[in-house]
Amino acid sequence: MAGNVTLVDHPLIRHKLTLMRKKDTSTASFRRLLREISMLLAYETLRDLKTRDVQIETPLVTMSAPEIDGKKLVLVSILRAGLGIVDGMLEIVPSARVGHVGMYREPKTLMAVEYFYKVPVDLANRDVIVCDPMLATGNSAVAAVERIKESGPGSLKFVCLLACPEGIKTFHESHPDVPIVTAAIDERLNDHGYILPGLGDAGDRLFGTK
Ligand code: URA
Repeated sequence: MAGNVTLVDHPLIRHKLTLMRKKDTSTASFRRLLREISMLLAYETLRDLKTRDVQIETPLVTMSAPEIDGKKLVLVSILRAGLGIVDGMLEIVPSARVGHVGMYREPKTLMAVEYFYKVPVDLANRDVIVCDPMLATGNSAVAAVERIKESGPGSLKFVCLLACPEGIKTFHESHPDVPIVTAAIDERLNDHGYILPGLGDAGDRLFGTK
């Protein structure tokens, strides 16, 4: 994959994503599938976590064994659909800290407007994973990462379920240093800022609001 994008196209993820795309998939199934895919994305996203060796005792002997090093990870949800990814990732890293960035898309301009921001106070030296299922226009992701960068995190990654070429381009024009991890790259954006073929409105499908 060109540039700073990791496409995690494991057959399990591709299969589950197909189920999520189907318009008749229920809210309950959509939620469960997003959780499951997010656990699989966590596995790949956290591949470069640093470890250090510690002395432990097994029932038989003492040994030197790896444990994750450094300050606790921070998962940041771009509200509201990002909650679905954070939920799944927390199954894998239950002690991670969690932040929330509230962004809505101004319907005419499609620009991101922040209405809420709360992240752990000490982001310095922490690895931060910003989560939003859809990298569509890229405007919310750009704005959220800009805001988080003000706190000087140790490292940053952006994780989504679906990206499109327009969103990747916009995101990396502003943040070429931030890797994107995604389960798929779809064809294009439509005039309303939705990804095609996509899966519709991720927030509505996750929470059953439409
Ligand atoms: N947000 C969504 O929920 N779906 C899209 O297709 C684009 C942005």
